[in-house]
Amino acid sequence: MTSQNGTAAVADTWNFEVELASAPATADARAAVLAKPGFGQSFTDHMVLASWTEERGWHGQKVMPYGPLKVSPAAAVLHYAQEIFEGLKAYRHEDGSVWAFRPEMNAARFSRSAQRLALPQVPEQEFLAALRALVTVDEVWVPPAGSGETSLYLRPYMMATEAALSVRPAREVLFGVIASPAGPYFDTGPKPVSIWLSDTSIRATPGGTGAAKCGGNYAASLAAFAEATENGCNQVIYLDAVERRWIEESGSMNVFFVYADGRIATPELSGSILAGVTRDSVLELAADLGYKVEERRISADEWRDGVRTGEIAETFASGTAAVITPIGRVAWSGGNLPIGDHSTAEGVGPVTSSIRAALLDLQYGRTPDPRGWLARLAFPAHFPH
Ligand SMILES: Cc1ncc(COP(=O)(O)O)c(C=O)c1O
Repeated sequence: MTSQNGTAAVADTWNFEVELASAPATADARAAVLAKPGFGQSFTDHMVLASWTEERGWHGQKVMPYGPLKVSPAAAVLHYAQEIFEGLKAYRHEDGSVWAFRPEMNAARFSRSAQRLALPQVPEQEFLAALRALVTVDEVWVPPAGSGETSLYLRPYMMATEAALSVRPAREVLFGVIASPAGPYFDTGPKPVSIWLSDTSIRATPGGTGAAKCGGNYAASLAAFAEATENGCNQVIYLDAVERRWIEESGSMNVFFVYADGRIATPELSGSILAGVTRDSVLELAADLGYKVEERRISADEWRDGVRTGEIAETFASGTAAVITPIGRVAWSGGNLPIGDHSTAEGVGPVTSSIRAALLDLQYGRTPDPRGWLARLAFPAHFPH
């Protein structure tokens, strides 16, 4: 059985009851979405739901028509933000099969997030089963191979649905997965973004929830995001909460620094940084490509000084949605610095480009997968099983 906060091993197997949509999108409507999917705007015909109560544990697992949820206005999630989520993509390969990239890392992070937010555990194999169940039913929504950097973005989430205003772990919880066709983050190839280095807002504190993927972290980042926009920047990079000196990450991506001497460094996982699946993969792929990789503390001054002297040639951010994003400019209250190879609108440094290509080639099945990072989610209907 599951325990509220804990790690109890669970051996139950989820069986998903499938209720197919009676009015799914027409083939034309679907084709129109897949032709220009955008990001997180359109959703597939179905979704996964499962319920949890303290008495019954997990039950009612189903794949059902996509639609609004009925939630009490007193649900704890609406008042106290007891909620977590994940984000990963399903990629169509040339032979038509559909794959996820290291989904067990998302499952493990979901478990850690659940523990931090006092939500019940979803056993990792059931998290993966939920992804498979949805992608199997909505396989036609996975964009075709060869259509650029397209995918089906999967969004598992869990929230406290108990109607109770006491501040305590909820005794009723909902787990779900929705799916959204995703286009290339950048229509015409990766474009350098500009970064606002915030010296006023912090994202996460030691002992806080920065290492968990909970909605509250993102709500708390929005004012700083607005500040970045006012200052002509696309994203924020946060410094540590204690010394306000060490670079942590951006609001939705980890960050890497490429040194002219062939080193690549990223902030070490401090407890208040989200452990990105892409971050971990970049560390391994960059080492494969011959770079010396470092996980350590990097100060804002080291970044700025390194850019000024040319010691730091490139800076990029990593995350599932945009894969690898070059950072072309860093601005802060009182300063502004273009970054080497990324400083023009089209400029993408050679190291950033090569790591980006290595990662995408792997995710789309264009290169061998010696580490077994890909997990098959579905075969297309015509595929010989
Ligand atoms: C705060 C934050 N940091 C980093 C990342 C990158 O993580 P991943 O590479 O697993 O997408 C994300 C996105 O999930 C994020 O929200």
